[in-house]
Amino acid sequence: MKLPDAPWFPIRTKRLLLREARESDSADIHAYASDPEVARYMDWGPNDEATTRDVLDRWTKKQAEWPRADVNLLVEHLADSRVIGSIRLGVKDLANRSADFGHSYNRAYWRKGYGTEAARAMLAVGFETLGLHRIWATADVRNRASWSLLAKLGMRREARFRRDVFVKGVWRDSYLYAILAEEWRTAKPL
Ligand SMILES: CC(C)(COP(=O)(O)OP(=O)(O)OC[C@H]1O[C@@H](n2cnc3c(N)ncnc32)[C@H](O)[C@@H]1OP(=O)(O)O)[C@@H](O)C(=O)NCCC(=O)NCCS
Repeated sequence: MKLPDAPWFPIRTKRLLLREARESDSADIHAYASDPEVARYMDWGPNDEATTRDVLDRWTKKQAEWPRADVNLLVEHLADSRVIGSIRLGVKDLANRSADFGHSYNRAYWRKGYGTEAARAMLAVGFETLGLHRIWATADVRNRASWSLLAKLGMRREARFRRDVFVKGVWRDSYLYAILAEEWRTAKPL
């Protein structure tokens, strides 16, 4: 496969806008990235202000690169124009047309379906616009919210990796979830 000539974002869903980061998003990003609960199972954070600034700087510099295999978008909540999280899609293997994704959200917005809404939109772009064959994600086995969301998307648990990632002082086990284009086409709500 070939990466598209033009960017495939921003993406608008019913309640969200998935778009690239701007300098003015710093406070909203820091609000969730500095929360120890949000960062609990992640290989980053909780961020101090300098780290959030560095991350935002890296993201905005990357925006000049195109085509780009790894795309990180912020999730803006349309009702209050607030950035409530971020979602990343990374094309890892052009020959086998596969990509992974990951995401994190402000705790005040958990369990309202936003994670599912944004991830569904990413899967749709991945399969329908980019022509991917397979999309996968990993989750700490202790992170029920994360892997339950993957299952809700119609992704299949394919593996449990033993102590594969060192996070916050411990070797964790991870589940691998994946979905194929043909599964997405039949599972997708009309
Ligand atoms: C994991 C995360 C992205 C879920 O986002 P969210 O917007 O709360 O998810 P949704 O509201 O779309 O929930 C989707 C499903 O996930 C499951 N789920 C979400 N939160 C859950 C929780 N606290 N406990 C159990 N299941 C949960 C449920 O099955 C839910 O569907 P339901 O509400 O119909 O029962 C969010 O909790 C988060 O940002 N966590 C911190 C960062 C992280 O762990 N990221 C994932 C690792 S890459």
